[in-house]
Amino acid sequence: MGGGASGAPTQQGGVDSESGAGSAEAGSGAASNEGGASPGSAGGASPGSAAEAGTAGASGESSSAGGRGTDSDSLDLRGIAADTLNHNPAPPGLGDARSRAVALLATWSQTQKLALIRGSSGNYVGNVPAVGSIPALTLQDGPAGVRYFSGVTGFPAPITLAASWDRALVESWGAAMGAEMRGKGVMIQLGPMMNLARVPAGGRNFEGFGEDPYLAAELAARDVAGIQSQKVVATAKHYVGNEQETNRFGGNSQIDDRTLHEVYYAPFDASVRAGLASVMCSYNRLNGLYACENPTALADLKTGMGFSGWVMSDWSATHSTVTSANAGLDMEMPSGSYFSALGTAISNGDVPQARLDDMVLRILTALYRLGILDDPPTGNSASNVNPSAHVDLARQAATSGITLLKNQNGLLPLDSSKKIAVIGRAGHSAPAFGGGGSAAVTPPYVVSPFTEIQLRSGNTVTYTNGLDSDAALAARAADVAVVFGSVDSTEGSDRPSLSSGVDSLVSAVAAANPNTIVVLNVPGAVLMPWLDQVAAVLVAWYPGQENGKAITPILFGDENPSGKLPLTFPKNASDLPQPASTQNVAYTEGLAIGYRALDAANVAPLFPFGFGLSYTTFSYAELKLHPHNSQGSVTAEFKLTNTGARAGAEVAQLYLSYPAGSGEPPRVLRGFERIALAPSESRTVNIELDARALSSWDSAHRSRQVLSGTYRIAVGGSSRDLPLEAALEVIGTDASAGTNPGTGGTGGTSGTGGTGTGSGGSATGGTSGNGTCDSPVDLDASVNTYGLLTTGAACFRTPLSFNAVACTQWAGRTLKINGAVVLCTGSQITVPPAIGGYSYFDISAGDSSYAAIGWFTL
Ligand code: BGC
Repeated sequence: MGGGASGAPTQQGGVDSESGAGSAEAGSGAASNEGGASPGSAGGASPGSAAEAGTAGASGESSSAGGRGTDSDSLDLRGIAADTLNHNPAPPGLGDARSRAVALLATWSQTQKLALIRGSSGNYVGNVPAVGSIPALTLQDGPAGVRYFSGVTGFPAPITLAASWDRALVESWGAAMGAEMRGKGVMIQLGPMMNLARVPAGGRNFEGFGEDPYLAAELAARDVAGIQSQKVVATAKHYVGNEQETNRFGGNSQIDDRTLHEVYYAPFDASVRAGLASVMCSYNRLNGLYACENPTALADLKTGMGFSGWVMSDWSATHSTVTSANAGLDMEMPSGSYFSALGTAISNGDVPQARLDDMVLRILTALYRLGILDDPPTGNSASNVNPSAHVDLARQAATSGITLLKNQNGLLPLDSSKKIAVIGRAGHSAPAFGGGGSAAVTPPYVVSPFTEIQLRSGNTVTYTNGLDSDAALAARAADVAVVFGSVDSTEGSDRPSLSSGVDSLVSAVAAANPNTIVVLNVPGAVLMPWLDQVAAVLVAWYPGQENGKAITPILFGDENPSGKLPLTFPKNASDLPQPASTQNVAYTEGLAIGYRALDAANVAPLFPFGFGLSYTTFSYAELKLHPHNSQGSVTAEFKLTNTGARAGAEVAQLYLSYPAGSGEPPRVLRGFERIALAPSESRTVNIELDARALSSWDSAHRSRQVLSGTYRIAVGGSSRDLPLEAALEVIGTDASAGTNPGTGGTGGTSGTGGTGTGSGGSATGGTSGNGTCDSPVDLDASVNTYGLLTTGAACFRTPLSFNAVACTQWAGRTLKINGAVVLCTGSQITVPPAIGGYSYFDISAGDSSYAAIGWFTL
């Protein structure tokens, strides 16, 4: 494929003519030049910057040799096993931990079991009293570090880490937070927060990892791994559909099944792959049912994703005893308003005993697996847990996320001989730190930018904390004005607007001095009506306690700005969804969250997703695709060069376009690497896409599939600056149903469509189909994920471990597996031979609810 290098050597968004996305965006070449080399206004923010960027591209400062793939770039995925696409492996140590939990459970009374699954009062945000040999469980917020207690590090907010696009940094930060939690006696951290920034004004966007499911999934998973490396449980929250705070208690997020699987489940799914031990279900309703009693969502988590840990409710997000327990809730927090009645519900037969045992086993297994029960924390809330290494990390994290959006005429980095006017409260008297709510942290101090700028500058630095008129005077008296603005954000409400709060101040200052630099401490996107009037814009997000020590080295060029936007900055608030003010929160855009919607509608953003300038320049060249049929993956190889005079990091991004008719947005992020390069240094970068990365969710068959057709892989420095592009022909899993070599082609009968690998032909199983079978097999309860029915058995016992469904529950209804009718009598489900094979299955009663999903082999 490939098709030559049309547009490839340039670097402008216009390269991607397919989406019509071109136009003014990105312009990294234009604006990323050091010093005064930039030909025009930065960032494509203003009309006409496309031309400027074109100039830069033509001048050869940016990418030059846009290599393409060759006509032989094709990948055959017919041999990919369905479980590679659909099934997460069990985390290391699960079997042993589970055995220990089972052994302990066998010694426990019903009273003890009932004590472990609900909260009580105590010194932490969540507390479970000691049960037998198990010490009291301690749960503490939150996603940005230890809440409420002093003696902790004030790390930057998660959105700042997201802007770094740095997996290793995120894992180190997770580990540092985990260590501080443990040092404070905490066993269970109530984070990461992984709801997506669907609504730019969303009050909790600063707690998460931006708008893109892949970026959020990659970073959330590293955060989980870091936290849990410290023998602390990570809690992925809020599951699921909690993308706005307006009407958060019960607002009904209406999200279709495919969108859930491809977008909103993605960070949770990746976290499960990283060994996640706990999930918090959310306040909102999802498709009509409260999230904490939604059997579909909870089965998707536990059996679909193979989550082996436990689900706790958000604080007072439980609304029932029987319904919640049977749907899959495992722990009520912060008290036992409903789960205190669980004992009675079990005696009445409304909740199976097996369900309570499962709750307890999930909790104990997770605690054993992470080593917490063998080595409980010894610290307490008074311990000091903020060593200097964490302070350094907090500074590095804040620096890594700072995102340069505009740099006209190379005003930045600042010449230290210039007279500087620092303006705005966030510049000194009220330096920004973080957001509110459960992601709040109490920092020991917050470093003032003004203080640090004074220390670094070789000339006079003034500070003005007053009216627009005073600010204008100060700006006029200086060579350069640096205006600081900050916007608050907190759980419980969405931002009332996308205002930066400093519109009139910035305009007044810019009118007085064209060398105006705006530094924004914001929780997410803001509008910039003054953009054309100012020379430079830096987004420093919520930088944590080291604030001034992070921004000052960037301002003076001691560090290179390398952050990239983890969310779109729209031109108009109405370009992206607003928080719904009604109880119904319809996710009508489906898969087209954030930049995907603007790409699809060909609407130019103010600054696109993935965008961020630099003091140096980078070129992208020589894209080659290497398909690996045996592994079912493709490697995209390309060359990245630092073509400028400064050292700096670039976040190279890979976007995938699906074949026509797939229903996917024009481009979706599927890979990125943050790479630090010295001046003139080149690096060959390899980004691997596995079959999952190419897949989409097939709701009809409740399975991932890879569609056959032509995929396009584009690489560059933002979602609208993709100089390299290549095409990949894929023979997908949809081509394999019923055509697997040697299997007799009955795959279609399983109804698994694209995932029907290996199905068919072999499903004799020594059973007479709809009759009874001699040796029923239990589903593999140890992981609660899949059952392996191997030799001769074509039936398995109920109740299934998943939702403890007994056949009596389905009396009078037609039970199906993957759409085929099965018999459920007594305590046994019998699988007809026609649906045998190695297959994904869901058991449903012909309506949207289903009893179990999983895997079996006959
Ligand atoms: C928040 C959670 C938090 C919990 C405990 C809830 O209001 O939504 O994120 O972990 O409170 O503070």
